[in-house]
Amino acid sequence: MDVRVFDGKAAASKAAFEVIKDAMNHGIQTLGLATGSSPVDLYDDMTSSDLDFSHMTSVNLDEYVGLDPKNDQSYHYFMNQHLFSKKPFKQSFVPDGQAADIEQAAKDYDRIIEEHPIDIQLLGIGRNGHIGFNEPGTPFDGGTHKVALTQSTIDANARFFEHEEDVPRYAISMGIGSIMKSKQIILLAFGEDKADAIKATVEGPVTEDVPASVLQKHNNVILFIDEEAAARLS
Ligand code: F6R
Repeated sequence: MDVRVFDGKAAASKAAFEVIKDAMNHGIQTLGLATGSSPVDLYDDMTSSDLDFSHMTSVNLDEYVGLDPKNDQSYHYFMNQHLFSKKPFKQSFVPDGQAADIEQAAKDYDRIIEEHPIDIQLLGIGRNGHIGFNEPGTPFDGGTHKVALTQSTIDANARFFEHEEDVPRYAISMGIGSIMKSKQIILLAFGEDKADAIKATVEGPVTEDVPASVLQKHNNVILFIDEEAAARLS
């Protein structure tokens, strides 16, 4: 795994942006995108650049089940606010958390991913090592699926909601199998909260108990992390 440590989130994000820019100059078509706090600086770099995304496709990792896209905590809303409203893509896919039949929506999303092979997948990482909303114990070979969020993830996300009980308990997430099919993976992690997860991802055994540890088996992964997130690496 290629681990790059930076003095701060802004520098790490800028370096990740350069990788995406370079890949776009080489003709990539599809970006896999993440939400959460980790990619925000990178999205700012993208929106303030002169890059044109209007020929590109984006495929997001996940969405809460049951939140209206107009709800400001939905991942649809987040992506519009941080990226799509400022830099429209030719087409942007985010899983449908409001589908009446979530199983069918998951199958439909897998077909979308097959039709749009992901050139670069952007990832954050949860404190428990989750990627997308693939919580510990998720099989490494799965596709898009409905997920019951763990208490650790609900607690981490509670900061974005007025009340803890407002945090959705379910999400729909791209599977680890699909993430691993991406040609390249960029993982962003910042702050000491992520230090244990980063150590387990990079130096621990490859185990479903730490979903991100599967990335050790991918041949083109770059971690852009700050010194705090790197603090426990040996
Ligand atoms: C978001 C996602 C999650 C986050 C992770 C880290 O689309 O898939 O895996 O990347 O929970 O979240 P932040 O960046 O807020 O620490």
